[in-house]
Amino acid sequence: MIDIHTHLLPEFDDGPKDLDETRKMLALAEKDGTTEVVLTSHILNPSDHEREDEILEKFELVKQVIRKDGRSLEIYLGGEIYVHPETKLDRVFSTFNNNKKYALVEFGMRQIPEFVPKILFDWLMEGYKPIIAHPERVLPIMKNPSYAYKFVQMGAALQLNAGSLLGVFGDSAKKCAHELIEHKLVHFIASDGHDTNSRSISLRKVYQSMVIKYGEPLVKTLMEDNPKRAIRGEELIREEPIPFEEDEVRPTRWKALKRKLRFLREP
Ligand SMILES: [Fe+2]
Repeated sequence: MIDIHTHLLPEFDDGPKDLDETRKMLALAEKDGTTEVVLTSHILNPSDHEREDEILEKFELVKQVIRKDGRSLEIYLGGEIYVHPETKLDRVFSTFNNNKKYALVEFGMRQIPEFVPKILFDWLMEGYKPIIAHPERVLPIMKNPSYAYKFVQMGAALQLNAGSLLGVFGDSAKKCAHELIEHKLVHFIASDGHDTNSRSISLRKVYQSMVIKYGEPLVKTLMEDNPKRAIRGEELIREEPIPFEEDEVRPTRWKALKRKLRFLREP
């Protein structure tokens, strides 16, 4: 398994509090069967984009720990980039392994600001491939998954959290996660691991339960093949998404979505 969403840099964000916790997380991941990991620390504020030296220094520390402990895990640098109107993807941590293509991005859980679809569209036009982190935990998407469909139709990819599929983030997130898979909108499942306890880096359990529910070929695509392609900057395996029926119970929200994405139809 290949994990494209992890918080492993020590003392950087809300991930491991020190290098020893990082080391324990790496041991867990390897024991669980993970072979490659992208380190995607939160890049929340514009000022975090200026922390490149610190990020590279800590990434080197993690590499040293892996060598010292004789692990075979391969690690790559990335980031979980919060979308602001001014956000650029021009740093060494902006895209996976600095491949100038795949970037893991997030926005608020409570709302999708107006500028988000516009910025994602601009990045796509510039040749980037934004991967939206845990859409199943974003309230407007939980309430109306058509948002997710529109993002995928634009060209973005979606990454589910393993925990969401098991109900760790509640029933609504779990329901939404499975709905997105059933509508062929999901391209990755990753751990979003932060620690060795409640938000661990393990993937095996979800791999096995998803194989029972959806069959091995799909799960392998989401947890091995697409992650490998994203790290190497190659095209993803994408199925034709199935649209959601317009939600007549919430016409106002649907109209607002159409307004937000109207620019896509304009010349
Ligand atoms: Fe994360």
